[in-house]
Amino acid sequence: MKSNRVDFSAAVENEMQLVLPSLSVNEGMARAAVAAFCAQLNPTALELADIKCAVSEAVTNCIVHAYREQMGDILIGVKLCEGRLIQIEIRDRGCGIENVKQAREPLFTTDAEGERSGMGFTVMENFCDELRVSSRVGKGTTVTLLKRLHK
Ligand SMILES: Nc1ncnc2c1ncn2[C@@H]1O[C@H](COP(=O)(O)OP(=O)(O)OP(=O)(O)O)[C@@H](O)[C@H]1O
Ligand SMILES: [Mg+2]
Repeated sequence: MKSNRVDFSAAVENEMQLVLPSLSVNEGMARAAVAAFCAQLNPTALELADIKCAVSEAVTNCIVHAYREQMGDILIGVKLCEGRLIQIEIRDRGCGIENVKQAREPLFTTDAEGERSGMGFTVMENFCDELRVSSRVGKGTTVTLLKRLHK
């Protein structure tokens, strides 16, 4: 985790919420919707690409890990805060993560089929200013992405 932690108490200037069932087609929808909402702050193309990529990883995790074979809701909240700070929360009520510290390590995956590389959290961490993950087994997971845009 980076040392210059973001101030979570920044005043909210605009916000939106979105609930989507955990269908894989909704990954692109979530990514596009968050990007469209953030566009009002005139981010650079690179900042927008970073946000889309991080959201995509978090939402994909809800689809493939949290709910696995079942279906469930993915709850997405975006807050645009003073100081050009974007706070994106992606929450599921799925299986939860037993060991968050281990899950966040590069190359760690529970995927047995070899389809996953275990780099999702690392991507989120690198493409945002801060990543917070809280999880309870059997209850679900909340991923919070913080991104501060250029002045
Ligand atoms: N929302 C979630 N619910 C339950 N488990 C999760 C969730 N998100 C991540 N995990 C667990 O954390 C592990 C690491 O996630 P990460 O996104 O870094 O890698 P991955 O999804 O396995 O592979 P990749 O993202 O590279 O395709 C996953 O293998 C999974 O066990
Ligand atoms: Mg992943």
